[in-house]
Amino acid sequence: MIKIAVLGYGTVGSGVVHVLQTNTKIIAKRAGQEVEVKYVLDLRDFPDDPIQSKVVHDFNIILEDPEVSIVVETMGGTKPAYEFVKKSLLAGKSVCTSNKELVAAHGAELVHIAKTKTVNFLFEASVGGGIPIIRPLNQSLTADKIEQINGILNGTTNYILTKMANDGSDFADVLKEAQELGYAEKDPTADVEGYDACRKIAILTSLAYGQQVDYEDIYTEGITKITAEDFKYAKAIGAAIKIFGTSKKIGGKLYAMVAPQMIQSDNPLYAVNDVFNAICITGNMLGDVMFYGKGAGKEATASAVVSDVVDAVKHMNTNVMTIWEDTKQEVAPMDEMTNRFFVRIGAEEKGKAESAFDDIEVIDAGIGSECGFITEPMAEKAFHEIIGDFDTFITRIRVGF
Ligand code: HSE
Repeated sequence: MIKIAVLGYGTVGSGVVHVLQTNTKIIAKRAGQEVEVKYVLDLRDFPDDPIQSKVVHDFNIILEDPEVSIVVETMGGTKPAYEFVKKSLLAGKSVCTSNKELVAAHGAELVHIAKTKTVNFLFEASVGGGIPIIRPLNQSLTADKIEQINGILNGTTNYILTKMANDGSDFADVLKEAQELGYAEKDPTADVEGYDACRKIAILTSLAYGQQVDYEDIYTEGITKITAEDFKYAKAIGAAIKIFGTSKKIGGKLYAMVAPQMIQSDNPLYAVNDVFNAICITGNMLGDVMFYGKGAGKEATASAVVSDVVDAVKHMNTNVMTIWEDTKQEVAPMDEMTNRFFVRIGAEEKGKAESAFDDIEVIDAGIGSECGFITEPMAEKAFHEIIGDFDTFITRIRVGF
């Protein structure tokens, strides 16, 4: 019998308890022994929940109990999660976490501590919710050089963009609806500004290349400026607008960004809608491989956390090797990245656009006062220098085809 402690009885933490209670037998069979929740740490009490008998308010009770061999961290944020996780690992307990802020900021250090203590620091649920992506990246895609990672990494924004595309609604209206449905947080900044996806692409890129990628170095643009008019243009050419976390190696340089992009129906991520996430990884031998599933939500995320618990039980007293050195990987300046751009300007500057850019593809979305067009691939810097001369510039979205 393995005894675990769950830190934080919020959406994911209570989901972990629920998954362990619902699938007790099959989990015991796969882990090789039963898994029992001994403690739940939370500031609150839950008098109407049977869990109450296990609730403690002092982390030291867990830390000092030698019976607890696995700590599940589902508190979110880095304070006090970082301190609790580090202390747990140093005390010889494995840690399974869903916390992307923690993993993106301290992953390299925590992986290293786990190795020195011959325990495990596992974080499957930190990217893509219930989608298995961390374990495949560490243990399956080991024969390839990773050329590119492209993912729809945030459920809330994918829901909002899907609704805007289907209903022709504006961003603000759909955001309100997403909040009412409980998808978006009351403070949705991290989702809609792309910060959540930025941490996730930083984690995936660090693992793909085995070295630390600082999320602060990744250019990040959210979806707050996407409008119903943008979708009219996308529809006119059969494209979708999605927000992607992208990283790629070109000529030894690492490029990474989080930004909305227009994509065509031949892109495997085109049909990923609503709160679903998907990650497409390109290997130099394997080609494209895609992972799809629920990127958020209580049970899906908890399922991934419990899969880590099972892995930790199976590897008691063995460290499952994860390569994540803390030496920093430089991300190339965004100015140097090459992209195509969808651009909207006033109709009066159409002629100027035709001579300033090479071979633009004009899109007719039936908005007479405007000219919408797509450029050839060009460096970000060159694009911004040219577009800076336009008096009627409205917006631009990168093009992923
Ligand atoms: N807020 C996140 C999302 C939760 O919407 O995807 C999962 O990380």
